[in-house]
Amino acid sequence: MWKGRFSKTTADLVQQFGESISYDWRLYPHDVAGSIAHARAQVKAGTLTDEEFSQIESGLREIESEIAAGDFEFSIEKEDIHMNIEAALTEKIGPAGAKLHTARSRNDQVATDTRLYCRTAIDALTSLIKDLQLALLNRAEKFHDTILPGYTHLQRGQPVTVGHHLLAYVEMLDRDTQRLKDTRKRTNVSPLGSGALAGSTINLDREQIASELGFDRVTTNSMDAISDRDYIAELLFACSLIGTHLSRLSEDLILWCSSEFSFATLSDAHTTGSSLMPQKKNPDVCEITRGKTGRLFGNLTALLTAVKGLPLTYNRDLQEDKEPLFDSIDTLTLTLKVNTEMILELEINRETCQTAASDPLLLATDLADWLVKQGIPFRSAHELVGKAVAASEESKTPLDEIDLTKVDPAFTPEASSVFSLQTALAARTNPGAPSIENVRSEISRWQKSLQ
Ligand code: ARG
Repeated sequence: MWKGRFSKTTADLVQQFGESISYDWRLYPHDVAGSIAHARAQVKAGTLTDEEFSQIESGLREIESEIAAGDFEFSIEKEDIHMNIEAALTEKIGPAGAKLHTARSRNDQVATDTRLYCRTAIDALTSLIKDLQLALLNRAEKFHDTILPGYTHLQRGQPVTVGHHLLAYVEMLDRDTQRLKDTRKRTNVSPLGSGALAGSTINLDREQIASELGFDRVTTNSMDAISDRDYIAELLFACSLIGTHLSRLSEDLILWCSSEFSFATLSDAHTTGSSLMPQKKNPDVCEITRGKTGRLFGNLTALLTAVKGLPLTYNRDLQEDKEPLFDSIDTLTLTLKVNTEMILELEINRETCQTAASDPLLLATDLADWLVKQGIPFRSAHELVGKAVAASEESKTPLDEIDLTKVDPAFTPEASSVFSLQTALAARTNPGAPSIENVRSEISRWQKSLQ
């Protein structure tokens, strides 16, 4: 492609070191679409005839089908997907093929392809996230009124329901969807026509190219357009945060499936056994999900590090953007799919949850609230209930069985009315709180909005 200036061919090791075709081949549908749009604009600019355009278009479509069918031979001498396709085109159609690259550089070409790839990935992830939300919603509905302890510091705190707990993840995933939607706005901008870095002396209708490729608008500074990889960083961050949410869900499930908690059971299809210990049923999907999250962070870090020291505009370091990007998208795609399948078959052990939630200490705050309702300042109420808890511990008698009136006269016999889980939950009617009524209405709100 640059034989004019060089008298020696590229060294084998340099080829091996610099090639990207082994991974960027997958940009091919975007590269073909971008080239066709670029060729169409060249007709308008007067650098291609209609006849040449038709040859280019059908040649590129043929190449696209050959690649899709696995009938295309990629070569590392042609470095990347852009040169592999261009060379094959010229071989196929002759001189018209050699005109395709007029007013274009691989710099604006790769930026275009990558933006199109990211846009497709964003749309696919959005739909996979929705599937997972629907799976969580399905379980939240089935177990909407199963009471279990809610934890802080992994210590039992206050009663909630399984429905409320699972809906917390639906919320996280909704923020992820919003984040992807926002990232998409900055991704869906056409850099094509920015050339190597300073546009071109040939007048291309950039708006036409952009609209043919489904971009919302064109970039407005050729130097920025060539070197901008922010949209990849944003996507890799969005992937990292989705991974974080899935990793936290995994951790909850790992705890819930332990003998110590026994709140949940995963299907045999989504767990594995031990080669040594016959009794084991391991939550490997959850553990691998938690593990893969580190890799998503690593990909984000790799990209930010590759970009941070680069002077404007294109530097070959930027070729290092693609492997982290592809890896995060592939990793997250499979992670979302397998988690959706697993959640749909998640079973909750209602009795164990109920038993754990029946610990009267979960209602210690409610007891303090009862005192507050009798006119006692919260700080004093907190202290009085603290004394009651200490008395319960000392006498090894559950909090709901000790004589509270003996702890302090502020407690009357009616105080023990707080020791009902049903009443405690029913009282939590503030927006966002876990009364069963609230959880039901949140479930139907999500069902409507996800439809
Ligand atoms: N394979 C290259 C990349 O991914 C394409 C752009 C090459 N541009 C260049 N000036 N060498 O970044």
